[in-house]
Amino acid sequence: MPQLAYVNGRIQPLAQASLHVEDRGTQFGDAIYEVCAVLNGRILDWQPHLVRLRRNLGELGITLGVADGPLTLQARRLIERNGHTECIIYMQISRGTAKRDHAFPSDAPANLVMTVRRFDFAQRIKQLATGIAVITQPDNRWGRVDIKTTGLLANVLAKQAAKEAGAFEAWLVSGETVREGSSTNAWIVKDGRIITHPTGTAILPGIARDSLIRLAQGAQLMVEERPFTLAEAMHADEAFLSSTTAPILPVVRIDGQAVGSGTPGPVTARLAELTWNEVARQTGWRA
Ligand SMILES: Cc1ncc(COP(=O)(O)O)c(C=O)c1O
Repeated sequence: MPQLAYVNGRIQPLAQASLHVEDRGTQFGDAIYEVCAVLNGRILDWQPHLVRLRRNLGELGITLGVADGPLTLQARRLIERNGHTECIIYMQISRGTAKRDHAFPSDAPANLVMTVRRFDFAQRIKQLATGIAVITQPDNRWGRVDIKTTGLLANVLAKQAAKEAGAFEAWLVSGETVREGSSTNAWIVKDGRIITHPTGTAILPGIARDSLIRLAQGAQLMVEERPFTLAEAMHADEAFLSSTTAPILPVVRIDGQAVGSGTPGPVTARLAELTWNEVARQTGWRA
């Protein structure tokens, strides 16, 4: 079955789907995006993703002429037409196509594109047993990384550095503070307390992060939303990361140094159980 993409109201073969060369997303990174997990054919945490998407549009003053209802229907239709039950859907909205000029165009409608890719979520369950390694990189990003824009060059370079080092992720460090990963939120566990950077302008407010906090609190686990240093992370009992495509993964090495025992810890394991139970509750999916 050929892969299909959605471009401004039309579903078409991915190979032919395109935007104009003067799309502002391409020229300026003047675009926002969302990535949602689809398991058992159902979109996980759709409502929070929609809320974040609308907030990001509002922050940048981009007007999308598609309401939530039709957007939801179109997203579901694209998923169904692609025929995958385990996949991710990528949605991107740029300010539109216009003659290149930094200031906003006055009459360009936003461009909405969506793509769907098969995704193996079961691999994330297997990785719970081994954990993954991260390296650290300087946080070179702009000051509003809470807005999920396509301007991801600093994230791209950090992720490439991680890949070249044989690590899964790069944790972005500003001064002494660990902010988050290049495409994931960062967490540590110390003396039973689960610690992650607070929201604000210095991290992306991850949907998986938010879900984890609610699940942890619901299970009477202690969560602290506060900045933590790299030294704290190095001396933590456990560490883990979270994102839509990796809802929870134990971090067992940071810059080559073992975290705690160097194996996935019990608090992370408990959170993983809560997380995947929540996935099953919402979507019916089980590994
Ligand atoms: C920089 C950054 N932080 C955190 C996340 C995790 O966010 P979410 O849980 O919404 O996938 C992402 C996801 O793309 C990201 O790019």
